[in-house]
Amino acid sequence: MRKKIVAGNWKMNTTLQEGVALAKEVNEALAGATPKCDVIIAVPFTHLASINAVIDQNKLGLGAENCADHKSGAYTGEVSAPMVASTGATYVILGHSERRQYYGETSEILKEKVNLALANNLTPIFCIGEVLEERENGSYLEVVKKQIEDALFDLSADDFSKLILAYEPVWAIGTGKTATDDQAEEMHAFIREVIANKYGKDVAENTSILYGGSCKPSNAPQLFAKPNVDGGLIGGASLKAADFMGIVNAF
Ligand code: 13P
Repeated sequence: MRKKIVAGNWKMNTTLQEGVALAKEVNEALAGATPKCDVIIAVPFTHLASINAVIDQNKLGLGAENCADHKSGAYTGEVSAPMVASTGATYVILGHSERRQYYGETSEILKEKVNLALANNLTPIFCIGEVLEERENGSYLEVVKKQIEDALFDLSADDFSKLILAYEPVWAIGTGKTATDDQAEEMHAFIREVIANKYGKDVAENTSILYGGSCKPSNAPQLFAKPNVDGGLIGGASLKAADFMGIVNAF
């Protein structure tokens, strides 16, 4: 059966010291708990090694928020998948809408990143989602289908099975405007069908599909109650341990 997962995406927040303190707080909250889901934090590159040293990865998974589309070499300022793996991290967010929107990440680039992540034993948390205009003009299902097909459908079934997907409607990210549970369920069920048509029902049923976009302790229980919503990718609310744990405990 597919895993239930709550993952935090800290984005470009916290200094190293603040980040280590926050990770310790989440780690401590989990130490005495038996959550009904896997818990992951994705943090800035600069924080990875230090946070790895203070958390128990049996209880709290660690990931990066991005990695380069090249393995090594003259790419000033980039951080490669092998570098991320060498910190002890085991997850990497790829294709976040902020990367697509502000840094020009295309499906072609994302294909490379996914391949490099998998080659370095990192589990990609691959993000897809439509913008408001696409929601409003009714093309949102097709848009998300194309994002999945273009970046991921060259993978073997075996490799595809290693992915976690995150549906993040761009209009819901950081806006306080959450997709309704029915809107999330419609999309998640559709994504599962798209996967089933390509890789078969077993792969589709075993793929965790997370919802992201203004998810908080108050709306998480309703969203997570939907049969095809397997958890959340949490931005703002992952920056306070109590709020993040409130979402973890929504399961
Ligand atoms: P918010 O939870 O702040 O809306 O961000 C969601 C997100 O982008 C997680 O990747």
